Amino acid sequence: MPKAKVSILGAFVTDLTCRTDRMAKWGETILGNAFKLGPGGKGSNQAVAAARLEADVGLITKIGKDAFGEMAKKFYLEQGMSLARIYEDPEETSATATIIIDEKTNENSIIVVQGAAAHLTVEEVEAAQSDIGSADIFLTQLELPLAPTVRGIELAQAAGVPIILNPAPALPVPPEVLAKVDYLTPNETEAVTLVGKESLDQFRNVEQLADELLAFGVRNVVITLGEKGAFVKGPGVTEHVPAFAVDKIVETTGAGDAFAGGFAVALAEKKLLVEAVRFGCAVAGISVTRRGTAPSMPYRKEVDALMGR
Ligand code: RIB
Repeated sequence: MPKAKVSILGAFVTDLTCRTDRMAKWGETILGNAFKLGPGGKGSNQAVAAARLEADVGLITKIGKDAFGEMAKKFYLEQGMSLARIYEDPEETSATATIIIDEKTNENSIIVVQGAAAHLTVEEVEAAQSDIGSADIFLTQLELPLAPTVRGIELAQAAGVPIILNPAPALPVPPEVLAKVDYLTPNETEAVTLVGKESLDQFRNVEQLADELLAFGVRNVVITLGEKGAFVKGPGVTEHVPAFAVDKIVETTGAGDAFAGGFAVALAEKKLLVEAVRFGCAVAGISVTRRGTAPSMPYRKEVDALMGR
């Protein structure tokens, strides 16, 4: 059977992760517990997840001509991914994320500096038109500038390729762009931002939040709920899909990307919506048992085993 083809437009970011018992205050130095440097970035993590799930992945991104960019290319080749649309900017550094993880609560705080990723152009996305147009699914996020992101969405729509928008990080999106989206996959914070509210308390329940997103003309909404799984609403479907129980949560950074990558592969393989969400939950469920973001993405046989296939 030919591999399902997934086109992903998104950022590569080098993750600089520090584990600590508490946050330092402004002006204060504290000693942390552990440090790790590795490949990350929402779109890139999602692409790695999809590659490990045995999809044919085409990632469109931009890195710097530096040591972090070299790390990205080496890592992609190890995953069997193509470098054809990995653009390089000779002037800018590769994007970085300074990630602080609270060892007690597993909560994280992330500051992304976009660097080269901020310089991906509309023309570079247009050069990837045939990759986008020949895919079974197109997946993007909000970690690149809006103009090339919207261009990718337009090219997918023109070719009739279903569009997933994982609206992370939490940013407002013009309604006319949301109206082009087939599958919108925010977490609760991102969903609240998209509808222009401040707090989850302003909604009776998660279904009301989903309804407000559907009112933009989005075809299907999947609100990810962390350890509670995901809420799905689309034509003829309203369902809560529970998360998979795992023995020990080690790190949740990148779990949303694991979900998005898995969900995209399942839709590309023509699975039904709720089954695709279940598959995404299984991918995320394994990723949280491991450290790191891209390196924590599971392989297909691990996901199939968790799902009891
Ligand atoms: O979603 C997790 C990712 O967000 C990290 O890998 C970090 O790079 C930030 O982009």
